[in-house]
Amino acid sequence: MSKKIMILPGDGIGPEIVEQAVAVLKTADEKFGLNLEFSQGLIGGASIDAHGEPLTDAELAKAGECDAVLLGAVGGPKWDTLDRAIRPEKGLLKIRSGLGLYANLRPAILYPQLAGASSLKPEVVSGLDILIVRELTGGIYFGEPRGIQTLENGEKQGFNTYVYKESEIERIARTAFEAAQKRGGKLCSVDKANVLEVTVLWREVLDRLAPEYPDVELSHMYVDNAAMQLVRAPKQFDVMVTGNMFGDILSDAAAMLTGSIGMLPSASMNETGFGLYEPCHGSAPDIAGQGIANPLATILSAAMMLRYSLDMGQAADAIEAAVSKVLDQGLRTADIYTEGSKKVSTAEMGAAVVAAF
Ligand code: NAI
Ligand code: MG
Repeated sequence: MSKKIMILPGDGIGPEIVEQAVAVLKTADEKFGLNLEFSQGLIGGASIDAHGEPLTDAELAKAGECDAVLLGAVGGPKWDTLDRAIRPEKGLLKIRSGLGLYANLRPAILYPQLAGASSLKPEVVSGLDILIVRELTGGIYFGEPRGIQTLENGEKQGFNTYVYKESEIERIARTAFEAAQKRGGKLCSVDKANVLEVTVLWREVLDRLAPEYPDVELSHMYVDNAAMQLVRAPKQFDVMVTGNMFGDILSDAAAMLTGSIGMLPSASMNETGFGLYEPCHGSAPDIAGQGIANPLATILSAAMMLRYSLDMGQAADAIEAAVSKVLDQGLRTADIYTEGSKKVSTAEMGAAVVAAF
């Protein structure tokens, strides 16, 4: 049976980088007989221009019927003057919440060929390969009540509510345990159980599930220490799992250990295994249309899609190996260019990955 992939290029550099990722997927399809079926839709500025809204209900429904979605990026000055409710970025929120994509997976891998791009010393980051699993649809970003109120003495007070139900913790924990099983077998759960009751429950749920995953070694760490350890000795980690806010902060920190935003893929998944795959970066309006954007984050997102949503790990490995090979060849888009390497365009980089299979 074929697997249906919906392609949502978005706007800005989105269409340029997605074109390269689709070419790579088609090559993987031919080589491994994956039987992929592609459809294309509009999101972000492209949808606003065509339909007056960042994601139509019809397009959302179509996405939900597919096995996975590959997205480029959205947003840009052209649409910045629009009402907040119909800005391009609202299309992203709509598809994430509309499809219940609660599990955000962000790998941070340092390619040895790009070691010079990291802000940390080579011996601290060389060989870095960690995965942060962030809960994406709950926690303090969504808890009620929230707001700003005026107290009796006239002073204002802001408040948010940090809540997690056991079921919400359990489903993200299972995603993380399963990811750890497929990787190095180590899972570090990050919380603040010394202060926050909600994370005492978080820790309890992780401990309760651990016996079901005897091949995974579970540890716990307080978030402040985790931030410190990420910078001090990041290679001690394999998979980290944490709530929405801690994950937001730690995943950005981990991402920058690798040096370049043009290299970072991501996945956002729901309990059926359905996922939305996209680069971590935005639509880069400053370089859109110039053919110089780095397509590797999107190509690596496509590899994640094959691994996590479509159970095609072998093809995913092949894509990642091809990316590594083009870096070995010294090919660099402008964002990762260093003296002595060979500067290539978006299309040349995509073609090189295809050729490296
Ligand atoms: P950005 O990630 O688009 O760009 C930041 C810087 O990185 C720019 O200098 C850009 O040229 C560069 N850059 C980004 N991706 C690159 C790539 N693949 N190759 C080479 N260079 C790359 O973030 P920025 O400028 O803050 O936001 C621009 C627009 O994108 C905004 O409208 C923002 O809301 C939107 N955005 C969308 C996201 C998404 O679609 N998931 C995520 C982040 C921002
Ligand atoms: Mg963030």
